[in-house]
Amino acid sequence: MCKGGCGMKSKSVILSGIRATGRLHFGNFLGAVQNFVKFQQPGNTCLYFIADWHTLTTFQDPKELRGNLIEIVKDYIAAGLDPERSIIYAQSSVPEIAELCLYLSMIQPFGDLVRIPTFKDLIRKNPNNVNLGIVTYPVLMAADILGPRATLVPVGEDQIPNIELAQSLARKFNNHFGDTFVIPDMMMQMIRVPGLDGNKMGKSEADNAIDVNSPISVIRERYLKKGITDIERKRAKDPGDPYNRCQSVYPLHELITIGEAETRTIATACLEARIGCVECKHRLVDGIDKILGPFQEARAKLADKNDQIREILHEGGKKARVLVRETTMVVREKMGIVIH
Ligand code: TRP
Ligand code: SF4
Repeated sequence: MCKGGCGMKSKSVILSGIRATGRLHFGNFLGAVQNFVKFQQPGNTCLYFIADWHTLTTFQDPKELRGNLIEIVKDYIAAGLDPERSIIYAQSSVPEIAELCLYLSMIQPFGDLVRIPTFKDLIRKNPNNVNLGIVTYPVLMAADILGPRATLVPVGEDQIPNIELAQSLARKFNNHFGDTFVIPDMMMQMIRVPGLDGNKMGKSEADNAIDVNSPISVIRERYLKKGITDIERKRAKDPGDPYNRCQSVYPLHELITIGEAETRTIATACLEARIGCVECKHRLVDGIDKILGPFQEARAKLADKNDQIREILHEGGKKARVLVRETTMVVREKMGIVIH
């Protein structure tokens, strides 16, 4: 175990996937990608992939999918994911994942899949397209994880049932066929990044998410117009309540404003009506600029580097494939799928 108490075993295989349904937002950036970058240390194997098959369960525009995939990888690289230290790939470059999913589906009871909360969520959002891919979504995810023998999977809270399903599939297989899969641990990405409207930052909502590539001037404008503050605070000379009533601006200050003293100064100034919401928002956006500025600079250099990105995905796919193929061969053998 890591001496710092982070839950990491000394030789960890860290894996996480993202669907290519849109572009990266500031919530992904703070909550996930910054952690991915930190995991890149000697001794760790890091696998970060774009779950393009999972994207197909709810997404139909091929051009947009291809574009999103490349753009997300550019974001990953600009944020500090290093193809020399991480395996960066598209799920679809590893056909053995689909094969493994097929084998796992043979030991997965159907009933569990339609009762799982993530399934109910997906069909609530897409009532007109309840396809079989949505039903088997968690089994494919289990194949993503178990194929490269991941030990640690950092995910958002909404993914807990899927990871639990992967764990239980691994245990079940091991019980039936002998030790084969590593049981992965999950690591919850606990921080909840508030969007402009105060709800958790998510991909699609118009007045909620901040695109990591949007110019700072646009982000500033959006915060000034739409960022939810303490709605009961009518004038700057009224005291505000940063902790309980300010829903979007203050909670984000707490996440990104460097130094506890600095955040406390803002909170006190608000409580004592010494700072107005406009100034407070300006300071917040200055903080966002400090984080996104260097990122956007690196990102701009990748804008026309599609070939380089494809090459990175190609190489990453080859590396991931070696790992997954090895596991899949063992599974085939154990289940009796071998030609003698
Ligand atoms: N379902 C995940 C999400 O929507 C994405 C994903 C696919 C994933 N396969 C994975 C995450 C494997 C972690 C591990 O966020
Ligand atoms: Fe929120 Fe800042 Fe306004 Fe206080 S001053 S209510 S913390 S935006």
